[in-house]
Amino acid sequence: MTTGRAIGGHHSARSGSNVWLTPPGIIGALGVFDLDPCAADPRPWDTARRHIAPPEDGLSAEWVGRVFLNPPYTGLPVWLGKLADHGQGTALVFARTETRWFVDLVWRRATAVLFLHGRLHFHLPDGARAQGNAGAPSVLVAYGERDAELLAGCGLDGTFLRVCGKGSEGAA
Ligand SMILES: C[S@@+](CC[C@H](N)C(=O)[O-])C[C@H]1O[C@@H](n2cnc3c(N)ncnc32)[C@H](O)[C@@H]1O
Repeated sequence: MTTGRAIGGHHSARSGSNVWLTPPGIIGALGVFDLDPCAADPRPWDTARRHIAPPEDGLSAEWVGRVFLNPPYTGLPVWLGKLADHGQGTALVFARTETRWFVDLVWRRATAVLFLHGRLHFHLPDGARAQGNAGAPSVLVAYGERDAELLAGCGLDGTFLRVCGKGSEGAA
């Protein structure tokens, strides 16, 4: 992680791509996931035991087990809402703490969060590390007690917080 020149971000419509891959050091620290419902194909490394990638639709698929979610920018709240309903897994999203989706789906429904220090450099489908950083801070969001415990002990450089489940009414 570092600060410096930004690329626009993995979840940013401005970036022109939804395929910004989770850094291997992040996924590797979080333990084994059963499912990545929005995976890259081809991909330089596995993110879970089972991957769903286009043209298959991971959003309408049945989610079983522990899920890792780094969702496409388009429809992010729907993907994150499905993980909140599923209740077992961890998401990597931008720390847009003031937004409606963050209040409804993170502050009100997550079990714990880890605000990552610095900015991530995402990776390209060929595995190369993006030259610029993500352009904004990222947060890992745990749903369910097991994911919260794994997040607490993952050793990534960040600030861990338990979430009490109540948010403000004033979100954008
Ligand atoms: C931000 S990338 C994350 C990739 C991978 N999960 C990771 O963390 O490295 C989002 C991925 O979602 C995939 N995607 C977009 N819509 C999808 C859908 N309906 N079903 C499954 N995958 C989808 C894209 O192809 C892209 O690879």
